Amino acid sequence: MDISNWTRKSLLGIEELSHNEITQILELAKLFKKETEGDMSNKNYLRGKRMVNLFMEPSTRTRIAFEVAAKSLHADVISVAEQSSSLTKGETLRDTAMNIQALGADAIVLRHSSPGASLFLSKIVDVPIINAGDGAHEHPSQALLDLYTLQDKLGTVEGKKITILGDILFSRVARSNFWALSKMGAEVTLAGPSTLVPKQFESMGARVSHNLEEALQDADAVMLLRIQHERQSSSHFPSLAEYTKVFGLNKDRKQWLKKGALILHPGPVNRGVELDSELADSPQSVILDQVSNGIAVRMAILYLCTMQGATNL
Ligand code: CP
Repeated sequence: MDISNWTRKSLLGIEELSHNEITQILELAKLFKKETEGDMSNKNYLRGKRMVNLFMEPSTRTRIAFEVAAKSLHADVISVAEQSSSLTKGETLRDTAMNIQALGADAIVLRHSSPGASLFLSKIVDVPIINAGDGAHEHPSQALLDLYTLQDKLGTVEGKKITILGDILFSRVARSNFWALSKMGAEVTLAGPSTLVPKQFESMGARVSHNLEEALQDADAVMLLRIQHERQSSSHFPSLAEYTKVFGLNKDRKQWLKKGALILHPGPVNRGVELDSELADSPQSVILDQVSNGIAVRMAILYLCTMQGATNL
């Protein structure tokens, strides 16, 4: 595989990536996934590199997966949470990042509540910035692991119909997935209540649907999203129970899905709200595959951004 022409230092979003760059990441992830099934003790690809996970919002999957990915490639990893950093003493994000760089970081993986926080830091420090979620803007590594999982299960996403259902308006996962899937040739439907899925999304090239049956019936895969209360200042529907009644995916509504349609969710799942346990734990669900694939995808991201074409694979 030729990754010698990879030049991108930071991964800030999917919108800016080309089809070729997405393919390079996924191909490298495939190679790493295969390698992790064997002995990794001599795979010193990132030995001597120091990765700092700077997470200003809660995370289980993304933080751990980046940590496991870096350690699998023998990088040193330091994880910093907001509560245990000097940000609580009034230090700015800029100064925090400058200090982390002065302490010898080779890359910073940043999760932050502000859209554009990763772009902002990428213009301040010299080391690669990997966006691990910036407000409602983008969550590129999530979309790449979702794409990896879909390609693994469907062979290709080109020409496939993928429905993303739920709180689209406040979802960075929806935005990154929309860009990733449409760049790779999938037909994307964004579905949910009109207050959370405004018609304006059609101008990006998505199909918008406020009718659950219609949104599910021809989908090859459906990706559920939770309601992101942390980013909503007011309620966008009468009650959570009302939302579940109209848009929750349960075993009765499973009949609206095509036979074998895949069920995805980036997590954390709010069981019984957007998705019932019978479906979350069913053979159609690839939710835990998404999580596992996230390690290899993040290995590829860390490798490409820190090595930039200087391959030692
Ligand atoms: N999907 C995702 O970003 O999960 P975490 O918030 O647990 O990292």
